[in-house]
Amino acid sequence: MSSESTTAFKPGLEGVPVAESAISFIDGKRARLEYRGIAVEVLAEESCFEETAWLLLKGKLPTQKELADFDHELRHHRRLKYKLLDLIKCLPETGHPMGALQAAVAAMGMFYPARDVANPKTQWESAIRLISKMPTIVAAFHRLRHGDEAIPPRDDLDHAANFYYMLFEREPSPSVRKVMDACLILHAEHTMNASTFSSRVTASTLAEPYAVVSSAIGTLMGPLHGGANEEVLDMLSEIGSVENVRPWLEKAVATKRKIMGFGHRVYKVKDPRATVLQKLAEYVFSETGTPLSYRIAVELERAAADVLGPKGIYPNVDFYSGIVYHALGIPKDLFTPIFAISRVAGWLAHWLEQLKNNRIYRPEQIYVGERDVPYIPIEKRT
Ligand code: SDX
Repeated sequence: MSSESTTAFKPGLEGVPVAESAISFIDGKRARLEYRGIAVEVLAEESCFEETAWLLLKGKLPTQKELADFDHELRHHRRLKYKLLDLIKCLPETGHPMGALQAAVAAMGMFYPARDVANPKTQWESAIRLISKMPTIVAAFHRLRHGDEAIPPRDDLDHAANFYYMLFEREPSPSVRKVMDACLILHAEHTMNASTFSSRVTASTLAEPYAVVSSAIGTLMGPLHGGANEEVLDMLSEIGSVENVRPWLEKAVATKRKIMGFGHRVYKVKDPRATVLQKLAEYVFSETGTPLSYRIAVELERAAADVLGPKGIYPNVDFYSGIVYHALGIPKDLFTPIFAISRVAGWLAHWLEQLKNNRIYRPEQIYVGERDVPYIPIEKRT
């Protein structure tokens, strides 16, 4: 068979199914997102990140004993090898935390070799280590880059509270813990987004899980994907006031500038996660007071509805997430790493699903270059 493709090229694989998956479902017209069939709004309200991670990995909600055992394992695998901590100490303080996370996760594969990816024990141990240690890596880099000692994890705190504790060396209030936990649930999985597709491509070569997740982290770093949440805050401070929203938007649309936190390949209405995150923001602001950035964001959403709404461009998950994290006192360049410590549950679920019925990804191309070109000796080249 010639290497030419027999089907039309679809930029960005738009509309092209690349897997059969039972992990999550999106209805982009009805703003519906389900993890293993359960609506994400219900999980954000009723569940916790640990339970949601189990649901994604195992395909069903855990029993009380299953959840207790899983929670126990996660709590007892949070610590890092001292050499991994030393590696993080050697990274440049000015580097982006996503780079530190990707480097440390890739290095984890050297401490915990997992070449037998078909072995259920290897799979489970790797999943536990990645979910439990990634928050520790993010918090450790953040502390070390400011010249402070990394704060050891506490086994008596749940996943969300412990991450907050390792960042700030104080426990979150019950409402901050609830918001943090809900944010981790909301970011955990989202069908075939770019970083999940990366994880499946890497998984399909039977690469080790740490390579699978570090591939996905690199993909999530991009501002068109996970990196948008950080850019949204810069955009809102550039707008500067509620009064400047409409003039700013007019100029942005006229210059075809991408509005960060808006638009989605699948959602042609407001992302259901943005709706929940907006409610979480208002819940936090009832305690802290409403920041200007939120008032600008609400006005921008209102103004953009008239201009971009007809094109199906509405707020996505990144539009309000940064505002919530900022209100929790989290530095801007940690927003995407928080996305990653949540989405690792989805990436791992897709890793396991890919292995169940694997075929290495090797798509086609349409060749548009020259053929049969002669080799010209260098002295004869003009
Ligand atoms: C995430 O895929 C996922 O599920 C991702 C995610 C997840 O949970 O994993 O949901 C997380 O990545 C959310 C998206 C975060 N990124 C941003 O907020 C960056 C800004 N958004 C855009 O770059 C864009 O909307 C994308 C990348 C999200 C989606 O891009 P598409 O589907 O490839 O659409 P496109 O770039 O081809 O745009 C189609 C049209 C264009 O106009 P025309 O040239 O046809 O006139 O819509 C316009 C675009 O200019 N458009 C926008 C816009 N997004 C699309 N115009 C202004 N602002 C925007 N944000």
